[in-house]
Amino acid sequence: KKQYNIAVIAGDGIGPEVLTEGIKVLNKAAELDGSFEFQFTHFPWGCEYYLEHGKMMADDGLEQLMSFDAIYLGAVGYPGVPDHISLWDLLLKIRKGFNQYVNLRPITLLDGAPCPLKDVAREQIDMLVIRENSEGEYAGAGDWLFKGQPHEVVLQTGIFSRVGTERIIRYAFEEARKQGRSLTSISKGNALNYSMVFWDQVFEEVAKEYPDVKTYSYLVDAAAMFFVKQPWRFEVVVTSNLFGDIITDLGAAIAGGLGLAAGANINPEREYPSMFEPIHGSAPDIAGKGIANPLASIWSASQMLDFFGQEVWGKRVLHAMEKVMAERAILTPDMEGTASTQEVGDAVTEQLQAIIN
Ligand code: NAD
Ligand code: IPM
Ligand code: MN
Repeated sequence: KKQYNIAVIAGDGIGPEVLTEGIKVLNKAAELDGSFEFQFTHFPWGCEYYLEHGKMMADDGLEQLMSFDAIYLGAVGYPGVPDHISLWDLLLKIRKGFNQYVNLRPITLLDGAPCPLKDVAREQIDMLVIRENSEGEYAGAGDWLFKGQPHEVVLQTGIFSRVGTERIIRYAFEEARKQGRSLTSISKGNALNYSMVFWDQVFEEVAKEYPDVKTYSYLVDAAAMFFVKQPWRFEVVVTSNLFGDIITDLGAAIAGGLGLAAGANINPEREYPSMFEPIHGSAPDIAGKGIANPLASIWSASQMLDFFGQEVWGKRVLHAMEKVMAERAILTPDMEGTASTQEVGDAVTEQLQAIIN
């Protein structure tokens, strides 16, 4: 039997609640298939760990994770630990340390998912946002000068390297070509007169190698408007780290909500493990109540199955989610339902079984 070794970092707030359901679904897929199985190893890292040990993860945390086939992460960050510490010392450390420079965030309006937009047909929201995930506005470079003084100055520097910019744009062109769909670049060259002028230039250069791919380029402010007014304009989208962060929460909002939106942090060369996670955070406002929506985590489990070459199961998981939402209406409160986290997870698992029978 093929064995997939998964490092589980459930993390903070609703992280453990939603991952439990994702793990259930992965185990079910493995059981039904019979030719593979999962081995889950749990790491207790996060804000509680920080309060006890003064650090977010073990000192040799990345080495400990290195040998796994993938990482499954819940959420990081909780009141009591400053966000820039918790995130930089765990989530961002892994994304950067493992060179997971591609962040795949599907924004597809699944059957049964609630949509706040009027007059939009389901199939009109169907895009894949490819977010640069290793540098850009998240380079972590900056300075804090004359702290506390009247002439205090703070710098936050974006870093856009030739290698980093080209590889994400090329990845996006390959994906668009594979899908036979258009590629839209989202940038901001009018105001960001170094980084985004460079980004646009690289996009045009690489586009020449892909004459078969139809391209569009939008300023990020206009793109945000079109996400709401005419989301069908977007098919495959490539954008920078910060713009991708913001635009995918907006994308989540038009396609069922944050409780449903998933993301994969991919190291395409497979030199390091890739990481699968919902795009939402630890949701302190609902943590511990058993009402968090596990579908985002379940969708990212589906992305993990795709990544392992088990695309048939990846699709079946999405299909099971659609059945649960559209036909059985087993939904958590964020989707106007009354079901618990566990009831949704159980329903998806049952549905997966039903697809096979
Ligand atoms: P959030 O995503 O945690 O919550 C925003 C809103 O969406 C809240 O009202 C929350 O209840 C709701 N929500 C989110 N996920 C949900 C789910 N699965 N089901 C139902 N409702 C859900 O964002 P925030 O409040 O800005 O951040 C809280 C903490 O999480 C912060 O520390 C932040 O830095 C961190 N964060 C972590 C990640 C991550 O680990 N990838 C992502 C975003 C935010
Ligand atoms: C996300 C999150 C993270 C990001 C934060 C928590 C650092 O918002 O995964 O979307 O900005 O990438
Ligand atoms: Mn985000």
